[in-house]
Amino acid sequence: MSTTKENDPDRNYDRLKQLKEFDESKIGVKGLVDRGLSTIPSFFVHPDSSNPPTNSTRSRHNIPVIDFTSPREILVQKIQESASSFGFFQIINHGIPLATINHLLNSVTSFNELPESEKMKYYSRDMAHGAAFSTNFDLYISKAASWRDTLQLRLAPTPPDWDHVPSSCKEAIIDWDKEVVAIGEKLLGLLCEGLGLGNTDVLKEMSCLEARIMAAHYYPYCPQPELTAGLTSHSDPGVLTVLVQNEVPGLQVKVGEEWVYVEPVEGAIVINIGDILQIMSNDKYISVEHRVLANPCKEPRVSVAVFLNPSLRDKVFGPLLELLSDEKPAHYQQFTFAERARCGSAEKLTPKMEQKINKGDGSIGAVPIHSQVRKIRQEMEKINHPALQQPEIRPVVHEIARQKRSRSPLGLAQRPISVGN
Ligand code: OGA
Ligand code: NI
Repeated sequence: MSTTKENDPDRNYDRLKQLKEFDESKIGVKGLVDRGLSTIPSFFVHPDSSNPPTNSTRSRHNIPVIDFTSPREILVQKIQESASSFGFFQIINHGIPLATINHLLNSVTSFNELPESEKMKYYSRDMAHGAAFSTNFDLYISKAASWRDTLQLRLAPTPPDWDHVPSSCKEAIIDWDKEVVAIGEKLLGLLCEGLGLGNTDVLKEMSCLEARIMAAHYYPYCPQPELTAGLTSHSDPGVLTVLVQNEVPGLQVKVGEEWVYVEPVEGAIVINIGDILQIMSNDKYISVEHRVLANPCKEPRVSVAVFLNPSLRDKVFGPLLELLSDEKPAHYQQFTFAERARCGSAEKLTPKMEQKINKGDGSIGAVPIHSQVRKIRQEMEKINHPALQQPEIRPVVHEIARQKRSRSPLGLAQRPISVGN
């Protein structure tokens, strides 16, 4: 019997050994580049099918750049159109000083460029202190590693243990987090208005600003960018992502069958819709696949994403009731965090408990609980995203993934593209 490459035990053993050696060296991808490597280690090589072309031709689409000083009516309309057709947009003239953004990007860059012996002290996969720096949070579970180092932080509701955060970044991160909350609140209000909701505070009241995770990515020069990725294609699981990037391009958004660059614009803030907001908006806003190409430029690419997630455990999540009618039925079931959390650890549920939960308020639906749990577990293995470092959100994310998957096809392919620049 022949063995495929992936099933070959020797090959797998060898791959794991190489991964461990690399991880335990704590030098990160940047460390490999500093050693003058001209070919990338085999565990960074992605299977052919997922190798992204590094020289995509210019697209006929542009991710909208929206002037935040536009009259409110226009602002609401532009944001609503962008969130409905691209799931992504950039904002300019938002009032956050360029110096605040540059301070953040520069401090992340400087941290990554510290002497190895200094930086290594922070290298860890343990988020117990709310902060960890490593090459790929999913290094041991992904099919192939990506050319990127990441500093991950839990900002709220519980701040990180600042002793575990690079001290040179602390001030810039605290300043940035305040701006993210302020701009996040404005954006949630505008997005509510775009949905035509009477209460434009509803997303804020659903605690959508209260749990925040930051991922600061450093994509160093890659000698063979066509063989690997910077960040593989994914959609963000939370409500909204607020991102800033330096001048080196790399972030691409899927628009129909095309990959479209989010062109770096100095001082601009990139916003994208996450899975939870797609559900709450009953698919009016869309959470779209995006990726980052491995960086072919000598200059590193640096980006900082803050993921906004809900923190309330007992609120009912699902399509907002105000948006539903006979003509517009709910595309997703309602669920609460607490319920999902119970299900996530419900392996030992008795038939009686099972019945109770299944009947409950109907929010779990008709699918037998054990098969739901199994599915969630399977999703768990598939999805790896920094936002999942917030343990209480995991079950929700998996529930969303399950619901999204069971509704196919979903996404831009079916939607008219109506927004230009
Ligand atoms: C993410 C992400 C994009 C980037 O962290 O989820 O999509 O530009 N990052 O680094
Ligand atoms: Ni993302």
